[in-house]
Amino acid sequence: MIAGVGVDVVMVPDFVALLREPGSAFEARTFTAAERATARSRPSGDPSPHLAARYAAKEAALKALSQALAPAPLPAELTDLAEIEVLCDDDRRPSLALHGRVRALAERAGVARLHLSLSHEGAVATAFVVAER
Ligand SMILES: CC(C)(COP(=O)(O)OP(=O)(O)OC[C@H]1O[C@@H](n2cnc3c(N)ncnc32)[C@H](O)[C@@H]1OP(=O)(O)O)[C@@H](O)C(=O)NCCC(=O)NCCS
Repeated sequence: MIAGVGVDVVMVPDFVALLREPGSAFEARTFTAAERATARSRPSGDPSPHLAARYAAKEAALKALSQALAPAPLPAELTDLAEIEVLCDDDRRPSLALHGRVRALAERAGVARLHLSLSHEGAVATAFVVAER
């Protein structure tokens, strides 16, 4: 049974500006080492659209989890986006792994599985998530 859905769009140039803010820990704080390595391994040689799509995936996952939790609110202290990790297989198929507080929240919401699709083209990166109970 579908417990919630979430979608998010990220404008890649704005996202790049965030990544490049001098002294910013945004990238290291938001993405796991595996996510950063995957983005850097893509043939384009530019990790930005891949990271932007993964950022969209984290936000879309929070939306889907929020719907699954309803009518209870999404706790405000869920600020560690690295706890929502985008994995991918050898054929580039993406999936989501939850860690820490976000994982506990999904268990509380009765979410057994999250499904993820990513896309990026030019200045736009997007993600769609379905939460399954
Ligand atoms: C699967 C496929 C449709 C993906 O298309 P794409 O244009 O590369 O996808 P987008 O640029 O919109 O999105 C890229 C994201 O798609 C996802 N993706 C790539 N291959 C995927 C696959 N096999 N299954 C699911 N998701 C996939 C990845 O998350 C990727 O993001 P990442 O590179 O940051 O990890 C394409 O690679 C493909 O294999 N097409 C079938 C063969 C074909 O092209 N035939 C043409 C003649 S009919």
